[in-house]
Amino acid sequence: MIHVQQLSKRFGRHQAVDGISFDVSEGEIVGFLGPNGAGKTTTLRMLTGYLPPTSGNASINGFDVFKQSVKARRSIGYMPEDVPLYREMTVKEYLTFRAKLKGVKGRAVRSQVNQTISECGLSDRRRKPIATLSKGYRQRVGLADALVHRPELLILDEPTNGLDPNQIIAIRKLIQELAKKHTILLSTHILSEVEMICSKVVIIDQGKIKACDTPSNLVQGMRHAGRIQFEVKADPIQVRKKLSALTEIKKVLHGGKQAGWEQFEIIVDSGTETRERLSNLAAQERWPVKTLYRHEGRLEDVFVELTRRD
Ligand SMILES: Nc1ncnc2c1ncn2[C@@H]1O[C@H](COP(=O)(O)OP(=O)(O)OP(=O)(O)O)[C@@H](O)[C@H]1O
Ligand SMILES: [Mg+2]
Repeated sequence: MIHVQQLSKRFGRHQAVDGISFDVSEGEIVGFLGPNGAGKTTTLRMLTGYLPPTSGNASINGFDVFKQSVKARRSIGYMPEDVPLYREMTVKEYLTFRAKLKGVKGRAVRSQVNQTISECGLSDRRRKPIATLSKGYRQRVGLADALVHRPELLILDEPTNGLDPNQIIAIRKLIQELAKKHTILLSTHILSEVEMICSKVVIIDQGKIKACDTPSNLVQGMRHAGRIQFEVKADPIQVRKKLSALTEIKKVLHGGKQAGWEQFEIIVDSGTETRERLSNLAAQERWPVKTLYRHEGRLEDVFVELTRRD
């Protein structure tokens, strides 16, 4: 459904997106993850035809998003990062205006607007001016806007951004419901959300793809690896030096001092049980240890491992 090949975008001297390739098949819900500034929004804007690429290409349903943008856009519902809404219009007026703008004609306008309003849980707000809605409801209007021309594919840029936990759950349920009938590409920072709803994850960092797989494969790939939380009373420079000498340790992150205890997070290699060596080392060096805890692999660990810079 989405086919992206060697897509790049450069702003002046800054390479925002750097030769990325990935595919999204029909019916998939794909999570598009990456730290701030990774290039997610830039990629989504290129896919939706709002931003021309510097090089590479992308197609939606076989239509080139740049050369055949009108045809490609017909099958896309795009919810941008900052949904531009006409605040003085009511929900229904706005969605009617948007449906017409997107080429919906005749009686279909009314029926599609009504269907979308009910799908997005906006029925009791349909006559309210957008300016009077809470952020969560405005977010729903943004989603309704993306849906109103009944596209097959939804491209959502951080749809739960800035919402409270209850509204996040509500929007997530709505997305899961929509996933039954639509293919979805969604960018988010909420990793638990991705684990819950996405069938595939694409992780991007500094404009490059770092991983592309199912959430469970990504976590399995580092099943034996992981994060060890290490709280110790010792000179942090010494600790770092000694730890770095252990070959199975990939990264040592120092999180500062809390109530006299130096906080370390240790990223270890796969297939090694590092805790015994750590406790031996601490005994040998006479470091008092408060915590030596290995966290179970989570998508968050994969994300941190792939994108963290110290
Ligand atoms: N119009 C622009 N002109 C110049 N630089 C830009 C422009 N748009 C984006 N950038 C830069 O490109 C990089 C990628 O930005 P982008 O908005 O795609 O990141 P993102 O992954 O969506 O981040 P976030 O999680 O913060 O939304 C950033 O360094 C950003 O400053
Ligand atoms: Mg963004």
